[in-house]
Amino acid sequence: MEYFEELLKKPSLFQDESKLDINYVPNKLLHRDKELSLLSQLFLTIITNPNSISRKILITGKIGIGKTVTVKYFGDLLKKASKKRNIAIKYVHINCRKERTSYKVLIKIIRIINKNFPKRGYSPQDLLEILLDLLNIQNLHLLIVLDELNYLIDKSEDLIYLLTRINDDSISSQQRISIIGIVRDITCLNNIDNSTMSTLQRNIIKFNNYSKPQIFDILKYRADICLKKNIISNELIEMISESTYNNGDVRYGLNILWKATKIAENKNLKCITAECVRLGSQELVPFSTLDVLKYISSQKLVFLYAVVKALKISDLTEISFLKILKRYHVICENLGLDPKSYSQLWNYLQEFKRESILHTKILSEKIKGRKALIQVPEINLTNLEKIITEILNSKGLKI
Ligand SMILES: Nc1ncnc2c1ncn2[C@@H]1O[C@H](COP(=O)(O)OP(=O)(O)OP(=O)(O)O)[C@@H](O)[C@H]1O
Ligand SMILES: [Mg+2]
Repeated sequence: MEYFEELLKKPSLFQDESKLDINYVPNKLLHRDKELSLLSQLFLTIITNPNSISRKILITGKIGIGKTVTVKYFGDLLKKASKKRNIAIKYVHINCRKERTSYKVLIKIIRIINKNFPKRGYSPQDLLEILLDLLNIQNLHLLIVLDELNYLIDKSEDLIYLLTRINDDSISSQQRISIIGIVRDITCLNNIDNSTMSTLQRNIIKFNNYSKPQIFDILKYRADICLKKNIISNELIEMISESTYNNGDVRYGLNILWKATKIAENKNLKCITAECVRLGSQELVPFSTLDVLKYISSQKLVFLYAVVKALKISDLTEISFLKILKRYHVICENLGLDPKSYSQLWNYLQEFKRESILHTKILSEKIKGRKALIQVPEINLTNLEKIITEILNSKGLKI
């Protein structure tokens, strides 16, 4: 069989599949004009009077409502406006979940400016001075976006502290660094010290959730740019908007759209049907979850695996922390892993809760965790198990 030839003969329903990718920044950003306009006002001075001020902004808002994409879009606008006027501004977008330590963040920034910079051998303080020197030599203004900032702060490291003060005690009066921090929830910033907090809090932009009609517009636009014409009806986009609105995360809708199209293609259909959408939503593990799972430690993933296993074996919708612990110990023994301590596992649980992968109900606060009931919301357990197994296998842990 000429598999490729057969596949290539089949007409695709996509016009450009990559435009459904969750990291794609579309040419048009619907329903975020207010936020873009506010950002432009706040950063106008760094174009009209370069290096005279340093902006520090905090953006907050729920999962999947366009915080990242809006800031990236704004970054492009800023790049264009500064290029036109010959002003050297560099936009750097850092995801703190992926670059978890101050050191990694700083190295990443420096290597964007100077590709050949060695990866080791400096302290964060050294790196910061090197960065400032580089900016002065190249007469650059740097806009650093620290996305998912809570991941850095939880480690109580001092990068934010250093960055927010960098201009305070610099000898030159040049203000070369601006910062946009992005977090879902401002309460995640509890462990940051008061004065840093007050610096960041001076300019908060809160992103509101999209309404159902807004989600419809966004999904319709994304469908228009990535699918061929007349592949999906407005009624079906409405159906997807409905469940996306309930879920809250636009990625969820984009993912259903993609899955439903793939299913229609596999069935050799000329357009997407309601059945394709239903099947697409069933199979789904939200992208946001997948993204989290890919970047967490094996140990934490083994713990999540234990939650899923314990729930599946019990056939209940929620399960106690103690039962999970028992399952966890059995799994660790089979894998030859040293089990993590009770309090570490409790922390994992809290982190999963924050990432909306698990729900927990505390029944008694007296003994930490003894009376907590844990649920996996919305994700099909078999799918989740499959994905965790795949990731663990890829890390060399044969489950
Ligand atoms: N107004 C919009 N127009 C087009 N696409 C959008 C819009 N808002 C969000 N999206 C898309 O929805 C997805 C989720 O958006 P984004 O990643 O910006 O969310 P977020 O608020 O940063 O979420 P998280 O808190 O998980 O980081 C992205 O793929 C993005 O492209
Ligand atoms: Mg984001």
